[in-house]
Amino acid sequence: MTAADAPAVRGATSLDGRTFTFTAGGGRYVAGSMVLLHGTGVSALGQVTSSPSPAGSGRDRAPGEGVVVAAVGDDDVPVRREVPPFADARLDAVPPAVLESLQLSVGATLPVGVWRSGPSDVVARLRAGGFNRHTFLCGQSGSGKTYALGVLLEQLLLATDLRLVVLDPNADFVRLGELRKDAPAPASTRLGPGAVRVLRAAGAGGEPLRLRFATMPPRAQAAVLQLDPVADRAEYNQFLHTMATFRAHSVTELAATLQAGSPDERALGQRLENLGMEEWEVWAAENPSAAEVVDAHARATVLDLGGFRDPLEPLAVSLDVLEDLWGRRARRVPTLIVVDEAHNLCAAEPTSALQERVTARLVQIAAEGRKYGLWLLLSTQRPSKIHPQVLSQCDNLALMRMNSRADLEELAKVFGFVPRAMLQAAPHYVQGEMLLAGAFAPVPSRVRVGARLTFEGGGDVPVPMWDPHG
Ligand SMILES: Nc1ncnc2c1ncn2[C@@H]1O[C@H](COP(=O)(O)OP(=O)(O)OP(=O)(O)O)[C@@H](O)[C@H]1O
Ligand SMILES: [Mg+2]
Repeated sequence: MTAADAPAVRGATSLDGRTFTFTAGGGRYVAGSMVLLHGTGVSALGQVTSSPSPAGSGRDRAPGEGVVVAAVGDDDVPVRREVPPFADARLDAVPPAVLESLQLSVGATLPVGVWRSGPSDVVARLRAGGFNRHTFLCGQSGSGKTYALGVLLEQLLLATDLRLVVLDPNADFVRLGELRKDAPAPASTRLGPGAVRVLRAAGAGGEPLRLRFATMPPRAQAAVLQLDPVADRAEYNQFLHTMATFRAHSVTELAATLQAGSPDERALGQRLENLGMEEWEVWAAENPSAAEVVDAHARATVLDLGGFRDPLEPLAVSLDVLEDLWGRRARRVPTLIVVDEAHNLCAAEPTSALQERVTARLVQIAAEGRKYGLWLLLSTQRPSKIHPQVLSQCDNLALMRMNSRADLEELAKVFGFVPRAMLQAAPHYVQGEMLLAGAFAPVPSRVRVGARLTFEGGGDVPVPMWDPHG
């Protein structure tokens, strides 16, 4: 028997028209289930937030709880109307058409998978408009975050003109512009060749991923040089004077000039040499820098941060792009800054001056970016791995399988609007299942992520098998 065929449950009561309780029906409706509420003078759509405690658990049996989502009309379609308090209303399973209407009524049009909190054949849709917030995507390794992120980015590319900047540490999105043959035809008009600029280290294919040191703000340059204004005050001071008059084009020229200068200049030159900066391939020279590519209004730019010899290079180029986006914030170009493995760039505890600066920039974008159209979409395995001041600014949650109770507890504190019982189900999710909640979701919903339209880049390394005949 499906939930839709199940006999109705009676006894839903609401004192305020916003939340309700119910006792009968036991555990038929689990947290997240969508229900129709029909009673004297009331027709509404609700969502169960916790099921009643099981029968036989004594006189203190806790009722089930839920929230009223919307009033519905005669045809059970959501309508804008206050829901009055009610008593002894009937709870019914929601037919698929009502969920479709609900999604439509709140402008949720981006298909991202199949709804698992209700009848399973309903396409789950997100509100593109809800990405004007910061979004946190979280789940343990292998839960399907990168795959799901790909699905979200494809849909944003298809349905919006939002500028996407993807900071991609594992080359997972380098094929975001390559449509699969089985992708539906309409996708090819918005996705496909030319839709995505892919910038990469030398030898990896794609356009070069570069940064321009000379145009970085001085504080950012100092961070690349790992210079601290207090601990390294003489060198920092020399750096300020040097950069005020520096007309050379390349870091190699800068190093040569410094090496031939005063003792303070030589000290600064040694720093460049010790950091191996002259050998970095990331300097733009005649190439456009990544910041310039993004600024030229590329619709989507993927920055493949892998493939560099020095781990400081990807951090430095990320910083240049973030500084540039922040520096030009007054232009208010709606931009989604996507960071996979966000703990690398937005670390809870940065380990170098450069990582600290990148993190500080992201903290500032998290705090103030919204009013300039700069929004973050950050993905990581554990909430505690990213900076708490960024996490606390996130209004959208996409949660995939997560075993750690402590991590779920932390998410419950930050995302207080998500029914706790739905969060607590996360250890039981299978790969590709996701809880979506916040401004981008019509209601908190459990979703099975749909198929990618474009190719995945990296992927897991397969276990090599022994071939007895080989
Ligand atoms: N919804 C899905 N449908 C089909 N395959 C999937 C789905 N989700 C994940 N996979 C596959 O499972 C593997 C792991 O997924 P993915 O790389 O997205 O996990 P992850 O959460 O990003 O892991 P990590 O934290 O280690 O980066 C990949 O090979 C991916 O192709
Ligand atoms: Mg991943």
